[in-house]
Amino acid sequence: MKLYRCRICGDTYLGSEAPSHCPFCGAHRALIVDTTEFPSGINDVQPTESELADLNASIELERANTRFYLGMALRKENEALSSGYKRLAKVEAEHCGIFCKLAKVAKPADLMEPGETSGDWKTDIEESLGREKRASSLYDEFAARATGERLKEVWEAISAVEADHIELDKVALTLVD
Ligand SMILES: [Fe+2]
Ligand SMILES: [Fe+2]
Repeated sequence: MKLYRCRICGDTYLGSEAPSHCPFCGAHRALIVDTTEFPSGINDVQPTESELADLNASIELERANTRFYLGMALRKENEALSSGYKRLAKVEAEHCGIFCKLAKVAKPADLMEPGETSGDWKTDIEESLGREKRASSLYDEFAARATGERLKEVWEAISAVEADHIELDKVALTLVD
């Protein structure tokens, strides 16, 4: 057994090998490192004014998506999907927490309050697809214009996670009807 650490969310993982994705934030295996590769001041960044604006936009996006998925997870008629979107909500909440840490602000007070949904699985999953596509391309933009190496690393990593969620939504669509 070995102790690993995710460079993006900082959570630790105990296992015989690094997982393909961080179970907490979804970061890819290349970012799950030996604990010695996680310097203690890793999130001690000094964002520029424009990076701070992009961090705030990221916090708001993750907050909205967390609440939307918690709303989807409340539905009872398809337990596998409810459970899947509850899991997704936790990943998005983790992303929100990462951006809050980098911006040095508290997490939004209503982060874990279920938001409004359409009440229909297919409509909501299609809405989710749009949200994940927006998130992934927005984070690509933020990563491209960031000057801080750490901020660039985080936006790139989370953009890849949101792209994975697009694939997840496509699988979810096959489970409705
Ligand atoms: Fe992580
Ligand atoms: Fe996210």
